[in-house]
Amino acid sequence: MIGQAPQMGWNTWNTFHANYNATVVEQTVSLLNSLGLKEAGYEYVVLDEGWQASSRTADGYLQINSTSFPGGIKSIVDYVHDHGLKIGLYGDSGMLTCGFNPGSYGYEIRDAITLAEWEIDYWKYDNCGGFAAMTEAPEVRFGTMKDALALSGRDILYSVCEWGYQFPWHWGGDIGHSYRMSGDITASFVNETGCACKTAYCLNTGYAGCSVVSIIQKMREISQYQTPGHWADMDMLEIGNGNMTLAMQQTHFAFWSALKSPLIIGADLSKLDNDSISVLTNRDIIALNQDPLGVAVNYIESASEEGSIQIWTGPVRGGNVVLVFNEKSYPQTVTVSFDQLNLNISGNINAKELWSGKQWKHVEQVGTILEPYQTMVFQLS
Ligand code: GLA
Repeated sequence: MIGQAPQMGWNTWNTFHANYNATVVEQTVSLLNSLGLKEAGYEYVVLDEGWQASSRTADGYLQINSTSFPGGIKSIVDYVHDHGLKIGLYGDSGMLTCGFNPGSYGYEIRDAITLAEWEIDYWKYDNCGGFAAMTEAPEVRFGTMKDALALSGRDILYSVCEWGYQFPWHWGGDIGHSYRMSGDITASFVNETGCACKTAYCLNTGYAGCSVVSIIQKMREISQYQTPGHWADMDMLEIGNGNMTLAMQQTHFAFWSALKSPLIIGADLSKLDNDSISVLTNRDIIALNQDPLGVAVNYIESASEEGSIQIWTGPVRGGNVVLVFNEKSYPQTVTVSFDQLNLNISGNINAKELWSGKQWKHVEQVGTILEPYQTMVFQLS
């Protein structure tokens, strides 16, 4: 069954916005292979806004932008499949997409059948576009497409993109394999470029432009809703974008992984440096994300220090995981007492810090120095 572990892949949007073409996609496919990303588990190549023509065909079908994709839809789909990967497309539950291309409102069944005929594997479905559509509850708009995809006869991963607007952790998991829980991320660790909402339960427009830390903050309220096949999606990764330090990129990846978000790379793969590649391919951290229990870490308020040190814990198969995040811009010395975290394990705890590989045998606590914005990830057994 698809979607039982959070999906992993790459998406055009964070770097290319709507400006990409077949060459960009083909280069990405070959880099996913040559950089070891495919081997690490990244399998979906998702063409966000920009793959489509700005209008339907005369008889009302979605069509690919033939300037950017002169070989047509079959050529790019075959290219991705022939290289052992899967392909995703972007659409919208309104009459228009956010970039004013055709949405699927009123065309759900027809478009789902088109996707199946094209052999598409992943459908990201957005929340923009048109007053008439907006008067329908999101459960209806997104649910109609769920039913249409089910009728299409093809197993298509359904990625609901409703920006957390109407609290989709209460309904989105029944509709999609994943659902976005926040407005759009920006390539910044702490500084927002928008993002009026600092909590999950917040009614405010002007949602986009959220920093990595803001999105982590919102998950405090909703991490308990993560279950296999119903993933809150913290948005595409900004690792390799902007100018985050190695510690910031590790923190970004550790939280997206341990909180069970889909892991969708949003960088130009041809520009990734070795630090970013090492973060994105860390097998131990990816294993947390893909762990068969599918339980996200929770924020442990009693062990944390607000605005300074955050501690999150959760179960994984065969043990527990503890994230220790230094929220400050300066190094801090921290002692983590595992026996005070209600972990259901005691005595003889063995710990491994997954970024450094450092191990401790039979410990109750670990004292360490955290770099600015660093997160250490302890796996306990
Ligand atoms: C919205 C989504 C983004 C991206 C753009 C494309 O902002 O949240 O992830 O798909 O639309 O226009």
